[in-house]
Formats: sequence, C-alpha cells, structure tokens
Amino acid sequence: MSLLSVRNLNVRFPVGDETLHAVRGLDMRLERGETLCIVGESGSGKSISSLAIADLLPANADRRADEMRFDGIDIVGLSVREMARLRGSRIGFVFQDPMTSLNPAWSIGNQLTEGFVHHRLGSRAEARARAVALLERVGIPNARHRLGQYPHQLSGGLRQRVMVAMALMCDPDLIFADEPTSALDVTIQIQLLELFREIQRERHLGLVLITHDLGVVSRIADRVAVIYAGQVVESGTARQIFGDPRHPYTRALLASMPGGKVDARGHLATIPGVVPGLIDPIPGCAFVDRCALAGAACRSAPPPMHDHRAHQWRCVIAPDGTRPDAGPAAGPVAEETADAL
Ligand SMILES: Nc1ncnc2c1ncn2[C@@H]1O[C@H](COP(=O)(O)OP(=O)(O)OP(=O)(O)O)[C@@H](O)[C@H]1O
Ligand SMILES: [Mg+2]
Repeated sequence: MSLLSVRNLNVRFPVGDETLHAVRGLDMRLERGETLCIVGESGSGKSISSLAIADLLPANADRRADEMRFDGIDIVGLSVREMARLRGSRIGFVFQDPMTSLNPAWSIGNQLTEGFVHHRLGSRAEARARAVALLERVGIPNARHRLGQYPHQLSGGLRQRVMVAMALMCDPDLIFADEPTSALDVTIQIQLLELFREIQRERHLGLVLITHDLGVVSRIADRVAVIYAGQVVESGTARQIFGDPRHPYTRALLASMPGGKVDARGHLATIPGVVPGLIDPIPGCAFVDRCALAGAACRSAPPPMHDHRAHQWRCVIAPDGTRPDAGPAAGPVAEETADAL
C-alpha cells in the first residue's frame, strides 16, 4: 500500500463570473521513505495541489478527487476535525511563505510546542526539549533563546528553518515541503536537504518537495513529477527524468539549463511563450502553443498518457519515439525533439 495515492484531483476557484481550473486531473503516488519532487513554472499548481491534499485550501476553492488515500485512510471523506488531527500528528507541512504561516503574535517556542502538546504526544517540558533539539538540528544556534522570540525577530532564512523544525515536531510519516529552502543560501540549502535525507532514512518518512530548483531535484529526488498548467505532464524516477526525458516541456526545462545541465542554482529558466490561461477549457495539450513539435492532433484532443516501465508522460510521442500524426514518412522523432529544443 502506498503512503499517499491521489487520483484525478481537481481544484477550481471562482474568479468573478468565471472558474479558474488550477489543478486539472492530477495523479500522485508516494511510497514510504521516498522523496517525490514536484517541479513546474510559477502558477502551474504545485502549491495548490499539495494544499488540496492536506485540506488546507482557501474556503472558496472547490476540490474534487476520485481517490485520495494516506496510509490506507480515505482522506476525501474525513471530517475537518479528523483531517486536522491527521495533519497535526502524521502529516507535516512546510509552507512556501513562512511569514504568513507563522503566527506573528506567538513566540517561536509556543508555535513549536503547541501541536505536540495538543496531540498529547508528551508534556510541555518534553515538547520544549524536543523543540530545542530540532532547532539545533536545523542549524539554529542558541536554540533555547530563540524559543522566546517572535517571528519578526528572525531573518527569512531562520523562519524557514523554524518551519522545517515545526513540521518535524510531531514525528510525521509524510511531509509536504513547499520551496522550503528558497530563502537560504546554497550551503545552508544543502545542509537542510541533507537533514531531510537523514531524518527520512531514520524515520522512513515520505517527502513531497516542491521546488523551482532543478539542482535541488537532481540532488534529492527519488521520483520527479513535472507539472504544467495543473496537470502532471511527466513523472518517473530521477534517472528517467534527467537521463531520458520524454515530454517536450521536460526536455525544454532541462535544455534551458546552462550547457543543457543543471547548475547549482538552477532555477527553471524561461521557455519562450506563455502558460495558457486556466479559465477557458484546454481541449488538447496545454503545452501546444510553446511546443516545437506540436502537430494538428495536439490541438484538438487531450494527448494520451504513456506508461513505459513506470515512466509516464502525457504526449502523443510514443515510447519508441514515433508519433501517430506525423504520417508514414516520419520516423522516430526522439533526436528531432532533442535538436529542436
Ligand atoms: N485563492 C485563489 N483564487 C484564485 N486563483 C488562485 C488562488 N490561489 C491560487 N490560484 C491560482 O491557481 C493557480 C496555481 O497556483 P499555485 O499557487 O499552486 O502555483 P505554484 O505552481 O505553486 O506557483 P509558484 O511557483 O509561483 O509558487 C495559479 O494560476 C494561481 O493564480
Ligand atoms: Mg507555490
């Protein structure tokens, strides 16, 4: 049984008289002890999909899914209270913006220990001892003193580390970490990621890491999901995604790295063209307007999802590199794809 499995997740927001489809039929699976990295451009639905799974969406969002299971528990059917209990004790969350998720009126110590005590995992003294130990582990010196401070007294980097410690407080089985290291310099980023790795090995926990940074992904991911316009367009092992990318979008992302490689601070470079608006229906492939290889079929109908040895991509390009609408004269397009992008 997977630690997390999500099938056909959809999230919509009312925008004036219209509806914005932020997440469009997203599937996700995560095993214990595994790191799944989610990559994609700004606005592609990375944060909203993880917030949707953890039931933390804004009140105006409409969330639907055919299935969402955490460790065998059907989390679509859980009450607000049951889900809150699960989130507090077994699912940790590191939010993209620590300043909006830390309570400015509460000391760091109170924020760290509140959940632990509330979920009856130990006494207040035990909670404080654990908080100090975790703050030290995430590289915050003078941890005991920090417990008495308030979020505005901490730098952005320190706040991110507090969020990481907070997510670990209740010893969760699953952590969603949304850009957890973006405010940190590279050395600290690597330290924190290594810490995640260490804790993951010890505790065999599942980690969903959302990041713009392909350097981070190449360092830490077991599996990668590439999201475009609210859909997973390609997923597979890190080796499959970096070594044998199939979707033209993934190829473009990787090719846009300096020298075709991922650099140390490899934020996703820009790809010409714009992401489609998410209000009007997208009848065909969402990447069609930016794809050098798009044919007529790509515009009219949703592309198939290929599954080749658990490597999946949503594109007409078949596992052998051919595509059905290219006509009998056309041969494999794998090299052509690489050259074009
Ligand atoms: N409360 C909201 N109301 C309406 N639309 C929203 C709301 N929150 C998010 N969206 C839209 O949902 C889409 C997905 O947003 P999301 O925050 O998941 O993107 P992201 O991939 O996390 O981007 P980034 O890399 O910038 O964090 C975007 O088009 C965004 O504008
Ligand atoms: Mg985001």
